[in-house]
Amino acid sequence: MSIKPIRLFGDPVLRTPADPVIDFDAELRRLVADLTETMLEAPGLGLAAPQIGVGLRVFTYNVDDIVGHLINPSLVLSDEEVLDEEGCLSFPGLSFPTNRALSVVATGFDVHGEPVTLQGSGTLARCVQHETDHLDGVLFIDRLDPAQRKLAMKEIRAAEWFGEPVPVVKVSPHPTQGRAF
Ligand code: NI
Repeated sequence: MSIKPIRLFGDPVLRTPADPVIDFDAELRRLVADLTETMLEAPGLGLAAPQIGVGLRVFTYNVDDIVGHLINPSLVLSDEEVLDEEGCLSFPGLSFPTNRALSVVATGFDVHGEPVTLQGSGTLARCVQHETDHLDGVLFIDRLDPAQRKLAMKEIRAAEWFGEPVPVVKVSPHPTQGRAF
C-alpha cells in the first residue's frame, strides 16, 4: 500500500476513458488499497483510478465516515437535480457550483468480484457521479454551465499548479473546502 501522486488537470490520463476490470486479482486489491490510502491522505471524499494514473474502472469514496470502493460502476440517476459546490483533487483548491442528480443507484462489484449496490443521495450521490465521470474521461468542469465554466477556466489557468510538469509534488496541506472528490 502506498500514497500515489494525484494527477492534475492537464494530464492526458484524466481525459482517457478507463477500461473495465476483468481480473479480480492481487493487483486489483493493491490498486484499491493505494486509492483508499491516497484519498484519505489528501484528504478527499472520493478518488478514481485515473487520478493516480491507472486506466481501470475503479473508484473509492469516503462520505459520512463510510470508506468504500466500487468497480465497473453503472448508474441510475434521479431526474431531480441539485446545484452544490463541488471540487476535485485534480484541481487543488478550486470548487464551483455543479449540477448533479440528487440521488443515485450504483451497481458494480467489490474487490472480490461480488456484486454490490450503492444507493445514496446528497454528497454520496454527488461523489458517485463525479468518480464515474472520471472513469469516462469526463471532469466536473464539463458539467458547469457555460458562464460558470468560463470563470472556472480563468481560475484554473491562474492556479499555481496549472501547467506544471507531471508528476507534481503535492502542496500540502492544500485547501479543498472539504468538497474535493
Ligand atoms: Ni475528481
